[in-house]
Amino acid sequence: MFGRQLPEIVTARVPGPESERWVERLARTECPSLTMRRARRAERSGASHDPIVWARAAGANVEDADGNVYVDLIGAFSVCAVGHAHPRVVEAAQRQVALLPHALGDVHPSVAKLELLDRLADWVPFDARIILGLNGADAIAAALKTAVLKTGRPGVVAFEGGYHGLMYGPLAVCGSHPGFREPFAEQLNPHVRFLPYGDAAALADGVDESIGAVVVEPALGRGGLVFPPDGFLAAVSARAREVGALVVADEIFTGFGRTGVRFAFEGAFEPDVLCVGKALGGGLPISACIGTAEVMQAWGDPDREAIHTATFAGSPVSCAAACAALDVLEEEDLIRRSREVGARWLGELRAALGDRVTDVRGRGLMIAVELASGERAGRVTQALLSRGWLVLGAGPGGRSLQLTPPLNIDEALLRGFTRALVETVEATP
Ligand SMILES: Cc1ncc(COP(=O)(O)O)c(C=O)c1O
Repeated sequence: MFGRQLPEIVTARVPGPESERWVERLARTECPSLTMRRARRAERSGASHDPIVWARAAGANVEDADGNVYVDLIGAFSVCAVGHAHPRVVEAAQRQVALLPHALGDVHPSVAKLELLDRLADWVPFDARIILGLNGADAIAAALKTAVLKTGRPGVVAFEGGYHGLMYGPLAVCGSHPGFREPFAEQLNPHVRFLPYGDAAALADGVDESIGAVVVEPALGRGGLVFPPDGFLAAVSARAREVGALVVADEIFTGFGRTGVRFAFEGAFEPDVLCVGKALGGGLPISACIGTAEVMQAWGDPDREAIHTATFAGSPVSCAAACAALDVLEEEDLIRRSREVGARWLGELRAALGDRVTDVRGRGLMIAVELASGERAGRVTQALLSRGWLVLGAGPGGRSLQLTPPLNIDEALLRGFTRALVETVEATP
């Protein structure tokens, strides 16, 4: 059944002719940087990086424009925790779009938005006040502004390898690839300091009284699925508290069960501000900057003009989809499933791959298989694609294969992937 099926490739090669036709059209209309980037990657790895063009998706499956069926091990950038087009999410979004697709933002809110705010407040372990956005970068921007309002300090500490989105505010704190920032450096917040991720010893000097916010991912997502050593996150939080800076947990990648717990900060530290996105909307665009009531008081002054708002923030359709996605996470017990299935799969991957790869690491259904070089990972990714398995390179040079499937994916598909991965790694130089 589409949604839970093994790959089925019907064209002689991948991408098939329909995808190729679409990609030619894409090159005529899309910003050229994306097409040129693919060409450069192909040159480096010696394998094509032409994309398949997605036509439909359900559960763990994606079908391309040629009718090839893939298993999505990326979970659409960790967005599809509940799978693609979950019937509950689809039904909620359809109902909402017919009922009220749009309300009046910060002036006259919608019932759907209020319902989501209540749900989110119940999901976090502190008294929450929330700003909704449309994408992850929106949530980080709101968190950075919160820190300035609360502390009056422009300084921010972020970490090498961290990814927080590419809009101007977040871009300044984005440490995963200097190339993201360089062309725009003169327009970015100059008060940002990057510290090595995982190095608690660097905190004492790096985080001082000039710093208003420390922005940290509890595990690096796009930066390569890196899990910091025990005690690092607690040390970040303790040092921030010591100097009066806010701790901003960026859980846009890790939130809502990805690592086998609700939020990856749990048990390690207590954030002042928690940023979530991706999985929240069940596939629709929405994010949230969730601060403690005490910290968010800094937005105070009720007489002032609303100083942070956006036309579509709190879109009723996205809010309704998000409420449905949270229902699914709870009713299908997906966080426990992520923890248990993830632990089993990690063990299977390690046993099957042995020393054919340089590392296999993970928590819950956030797993990385690291290869010796980005070039090799690129060739493996492309070979897997042609067999119907969607994976993506992450981290420095794209050396780690990012495995972040839907949390409700069938274990038969994971076992099938493990076998395909071993064969592909063996056959790919
Ligand atoms: C940890 C983290 N923060 C922020 C973002 C930015 O989110 P968006 O691309 O929705 O703006 C991402 C996106 O990958 C992310 O992984």
